[in-house]
Amino acid sequence: DGTVVRRDRFSGGPARSFLSSMDADHRIFAADLAVDRAHVVMLAEQGVVDDDEAATILSALDSVEDAGFDALPEGEDVHEAIETAVVERVGPVGGKMHTARSRNDEVATCIRARLREDVLAALDAVIALRTALADVAEAEADTVMPGYTHLQPAQPTTVAHWALSYEGTLARDTSRLLDAFGRTNQSPLGAAAFAGTTFDVDRERTADLLGFDGVVANSMDASASRDFLLETVAALSSVAVTCSGLAEDVVLFANRGFVELSDDYSSTSSIMPQKKNPDTLELVRATAGDAVGAYTSLATTLKGLPRAYNRDLQRATPHAWDTADDVTDAVEVAAGAVATAEWPAEELEAAAGEGFSTATGVADALAATGMPFRTAHEIVALAAEQSDDADGSNALPESHASDGVSGEHSADLVAVDAAAREVTGKPLSELADPEVVAAALDPVTNVAQRD
Ligand code: ARG
Repeated sequence: DGTVVRRDRFSGGPARSFLSSMDADHRIFAADLAVDRAHVVMLAEQGVVDDDEAATILSALDSVEDAGFDALPEGEDVHEAIETAVVERVGPVGGKMHTARSRNDEVATCIRARLREDVLAALDAVIALRTALADVAEAEADTVMPGYTHLQPAQPTTVAHWALSYEGTLARDTSRLLDAFGRTNQSPLGAAAFAGTTFDVDRERTADLLGFDGVVANSMDASASRDFLLETVAALSSVAVTCSGLAEDVVLFANRGFVELSDDYSSTSSIMPQKKNPDTLELVRATAGDAVGAYTSLATTLKGLPRAYNRDLQRATPHAWDTADDVTDAVEVAAGAVATAEWPAEELEAAAGEGFSTATGVADALAATGMPFRTAHEIVALAAEQSDDADGSNALPESHASDGVSGEHSADLVAVDAAAREVTGKPLSELADPEVVAAALDPVTNVAQRD
């Protein structure tokens, strides 16, 4: 009557659920159906099964697909469950589907087929973020903002410069993902358990039917290696680490009023009614922890595994699924937050002039006259110190302002003059054109003077 009684010597017993990968295998249900179809078509083309047997199996696979994952019979994993479902539908001929293969090459093929889709989804998200950053750069090309080293005001720069700094890193992350894609997109099918098969399989044909770029040549390598998982998780971790830095910057900028996040990407507090918090970016920042954790788990699981297949590999796979989902989500949210944020130009420019962060440009202006840079550095360092003191005590009143220098920078020019006298014994006007120095003191000109 077509009923099949499985006569497995090992049913799993009390450890059955511990042995099962069924939950995680939901992810490779479609991939396994594709692998089954390609394998059966190839077996028919090679004359290993008859055409009508292949057709029977293929129609059963359609029916299994229509019924869906949740309708699958019990099984240790999706491969076993689909085979059981096929045999339930068409009887013992369904058992021919597993000719010339093992679950070992089957699962490796399914993971690679599914993972390449996940890598493409991650690439889409990364490219969208790069586009959002490039759009910010285009819109804010002239928006001057403070730049930091050691989190201290360092030199004025532009919002565009900041945005494209992350675009540049993400461009390399893109190429790392593409590299991982290329090495993932190779077919292990035909390796069987690890030792190859006596049947005349055509590995290139199944690879082609499944859209792989080629085959993993060595059958032991094909069934046992998971370096493609490690490499993909590493590339995704790199994306996550890049985005965590971007997220941290935006959190800090929001804290200082340098960026206004859209309400869509902010949260409030359940108790403090005035709060607008950059929670989405904080979660983006945290995702790097999950990704790096998954990399560590995966690498530790793979480390020291002997050839060939070992069941440890079953626990390796979900680290890649989790990382692909988490990182892609985080990148999408980062892209949305960046695309909808606003950059208050006046606040940014005012902040760009604070903390004497124009100092390097002033030292450059002095050194351009032929003065040794070290002397220029000494003068400006002294001026910065004096201007620091002045900021606290208001010791240099507005009346000291030099012609052509706005009030906010005039005190700094006075400080440079005083420092020049102290270091060289000459007034600033004898050492350099004070207007050139004054221009360097203005954050906007200061940025414009640099290439
Ligand atoms: N579910 C397993 C995995 O994910 C594949 C099954 C191979 N099982 C075996 N006993 N050789 O790796």
